[in-house]
Amino acid sequence: MARLIQPNIKDSMKTISVVISGRGSNLEALLNAVQAGHLKARVARVIANRADAGGLAIAAQHGVPTTVIESKKYQDRAAFDAALAMALDADQPDLIVLAGFMRILGESIVKQFNHRMINIHPALLPSYPGVDTHQRALADGVKWHGCTVHFVTPKVDVGPIIGQSVVPVREGDTEAILAARVLKAEHRLLVDCVRWFCEERLVIKDDKVLLRNAETSFDAYQNPVG
Ligand code: GRF
Repeated sequence: MARLIQPNIKDSMKTISVVISGRGSNLEALLNAVQAGHLKARVARVIANRADAGGLAIAAQHGVPTTVIESKKYQDRAAFDAALAMALDADQPDLIVLAGFMRILGESIVKQFNHRMINIHPALLPSYPGVDTHQRALADGVKWHGCTVHFVTPKVDVGPIIGQSVVPVREGDTEAILAARVLKAEHRLLVDCVRWFCEERLVIKDDKVLLRNAETSFDAYQNPVG
């Protein structure tokens, strides 16, 4: 049986919390999409695990409340996760977006927000989980690279894949050039995947994500960008 992942949501406007560690360009793509009316959602809060995360200023510019929970001040993963879970819970988000959040979360918090937490990863999973994805792709000489948005599960960079975007790897690419090409694709993919979630079009069946009414979006992702 297909299972709807958002069975209890009454309000049509979804509430989103975004968790970041750094620059915040994916966050900015989401906030711009909300502002432009392309994403019918409310970003309730941005939480960063680093006080110097550039995305905090981007959130403030958009009038979104921010909270810093500095991971380095917590003695272990469980203590940090508990603080993060409490902060997230306060806004009762329908969806939590990990947008450049560079920490591994423990099983307890992941299970607490099961099917409500998504992550963007700069590679075509299951290839290149973890860090240094662009460097590893270049070293392997792959011809295609890209990014993935997936539901978060206790195993890192594993979890039902919502969407992927493919970019070419070109001769002469450096890590920085390839990262910039992938990042452009990330911004588009993340907005689309969040929109699909908000439109209640995602169904998880046998640990795979089905996209309802997929014609146009599916077609869009047959065409590599960049
Ligand atoms: C992105 O490439 C994301 O996929 C990775 O870290 C980067 C974060 O970029 N996990 P930004 O903070 O969204 O600009």
